[in-house]
Amino acid sequence: KILILDFGSQYTQLIARRVRELNVYCEIHPYNHYPAPDSSVKGVILSGSPSSVRDANAPQVDLSPIKGAFPLLGVCYGAQYLAQNYGGEVKPSATREYGRAMLSKVEAANPLICGLSQTTQVWMSHGDTIARIPDNYRIIASTEDVPVAAFQIDGEKTWGIQFHPEVYHSTEGSQLLKHFVVDICGCKQDWTPDSFIESTVRELQDKLGNDKVVLGLSGGVDSSVAAMLLHKAIGKNLVCIFVDMGLLRKNEFEDVLRSYESMGLNVIGVRAGDKFLSDLKGVTEPENKRKIIGRDFIEVFDAEAQKLTDVKWLAQGTIYPDVIESVSVNGPSATIKSHHNVGGLPEKMHLKIVEPLRLLFKDEVRRVGRQLNIPMEILGRHPFPGPGLGIRILGEVTAEKVRVLQEADKIFIDNLKEAGLYDKVWQAGVMLLPVQSVGVMGDERTYENCVALRAVTSTDGMTADWVHLPYEFLAKVSNEIINRVKGINRVVYDISSKPPATIEWE
Ligand code: XMP
Repeated sequence: KILILDFGSQYTQLIARRVRELNVYCEIHPYNHYPAPDSSVKGVILSGSPSSVRDANAPQVDLSPIKGAFPLLGVCYGAQYLAQNYGGEVKPSATREYGRAMLSKVEAANPLICGLSQTTQVWMSHGDTIARIPDNYRIIASTEDVPVAAFQIDGEKTWGIQFHPEVYHSTEGSQLLKHFVVDICGCKQDWTPDSFIESTVRELQDKLGNDKVVLGLSGGVDSSVAAMLLHKAIGKNLVCIFVDMGLLRKNEFEDVLRSYESMGLNVIGVRAGDKFLSDLKGVTEPENKRKIIGRDFIEVFDAEAQKLTDVKWLAQGTIYPDVIESVSVNGPSATIKSHHNVGGLPEKMHLKIVEPLRLLFKDEVRRVGRQLNIPMEILGRHPFPGPGLGIRILGEVTAEKVRVLQEADKIFIDNLKEAGLYDKVWQAGVMLLPVQSVGVMGDERTYENCVALRAVTSTDGMTADWVHLPYEFLAKVSNEIINRVKGINRVVYDISSKPPATIEWE
């Protein structure tokens, strides 16, 4: 495997994904406590950082167990660190260097860059530049503005590159990473969905033996793939619970339950909508709503699980981005919203936790899911928040509002599918606003509700942009909603990006 030491760059996860795309396994660890590298480690990559190596409190790392002993590649901050701390000098750039640059090879036969074009586009993002390298370093490639764009240390398998090979705009970046991890580090390219499934199933069998496992299904990709992996490993010893909070999309509970059953899963469907609705009565504050929904979910799940005898494990669909310890060079990041998950359950039920997907990125979860023959209607579905429509009905949640929103949402989603837009949008949904406005229908004055349509592109939900849906499409959706959904007389489209807005309205 490859170790990636994270200095807090926004691109660190991207490095890991590029390496994984080469079917090579890698792990991200914080620069200040990484595991002692053993024989399973074939090479190490140092990430970029929002800090400057010239800052008094710049991240410092003890590279003595690594440098010289393992192939090492420093990217951006990593490269500057290797220059500054071993006898070179890093200075502020005369002009900050962001974006496209053309890299020309100086040492064309160097194994890191030998397969790249003589001149190739790379992506720069740095405010400092390496002004001088130590005597035993050789420049292997330059750009017009950055003479030391790539170097190697004499007699050592240690390289530094000032640009970001992991970003899409570095056209031959993946090839450079391949030279490093495959040709230089000697990694075999055998980390594939098939090999992952095989080894995970074996590990789960060893770990779980004949124990019973309970898992909460949500209809989403992660919990579904986790369930199928466990099902493959332990068959009927996996019991799944799927809770209808009364806040799912229209017909979702029945449809998804049917899909799960057709996948051979042992699923208990629990209808608990009334409990959620009565506990949400009169509650308008968003964080309170989230807490009530989270607490009710745990209660319902717990009550159902208590009916099962001798369950020892709780399985969760946790994925790698939730596991990676974040490196905060600029202070801790604030909690914006409390996300709903089954936190708190394991202690309450005295269960051990098993998380079969904790090593995978989202796109890898989908690839594994495809290999496990999970239907596209589950694998391709948009993310849906844990608290469901409860946080898309602004203000108090009532049965009537749920019904109205379900109808409007179905029209929007069905139209996206019909127009071939569903797969181009990362997430879409409708918000029911606590706003009444005046309208006219026939000769009647109306005073009814307003909904907002939301459709965004994103890769991970952390940042998002609104989708420029065609006007004709929006017109059709608006028309259908107002004509068919009793109680709505106005439709608006949300054109806010995240940040500063969030995807959900509550
Ligand atoms: P926001 O609204 O924070 O949402 O921009 C980002 C992504 O997270 C989803 N989301 C949730 N998912 N439990 C979840 O499992 C939650 O409590 C929750 N709140 C928001 C949201 O749908 C979007 O994809």
